[in-house]
Amino acid sequence: MRTITITVNGLSREATVEDNELLLNVLRDKLGVTSVKAACWRGECGLCTVLLNGLPVKSCMTLAVEADGKEVVTAEGLYSDERARKLQESFVEHGAMQCGFCTPAFVVTSHYVLSRDPEIDGEDLKRELSGVICRCGTYYQIYDAVRDARKYYKDKNL
Ligand code: FES
Ligand code: FES
Repeated sequence: MRTITITVNGLSREATVEDNELLLNVLRDKLGVTSVKAACWRGECGLCTVLLNGLPVKSCMTLAVEADGKEVVTAEGLYSDERARKLQESFVEHGAMQCGFCTPAFVVTSHYVLSRDPEIDGEDLKRELSGVICRCGTYYQIYDAVRDARKYYKDKNL
């Protein structure tokens, strides 16, 4: 066991972890960050996606010790970002969810994608979001929500 420190959604958090403990488990079970979901536990569904030092990673494929000293952002942490808040509102406006189980991962991934390329569209957008699976099949509403939110990521005043 060892104690690690992770900045989670802007707050410095400590956790005592095993060397082989997953970041997913530590976030959910030890730090109470429950927007991070899991279905496959083997890197396929993308529901456990978080931003680690700004890059999307699957937290079921990431050891907690790998996040020691780093910054993790989840859907909860995006609410303080004006653009990301409007992105989430766009998901609601477009009905881009049924059960909502995949929504936090899509919001995190979409925020990352739009932050890099606010003009993205078409097959490029689908490819960039393809790491997250929606078992309810609301893909077209998700694409519409993300496309509609592009204007916020182009807005220099936000
Ligand atoms: S639970 Fe991590 S990719 Fe499915
Ligand atoms: S809305 Fe149910 S899994 Fe995507």
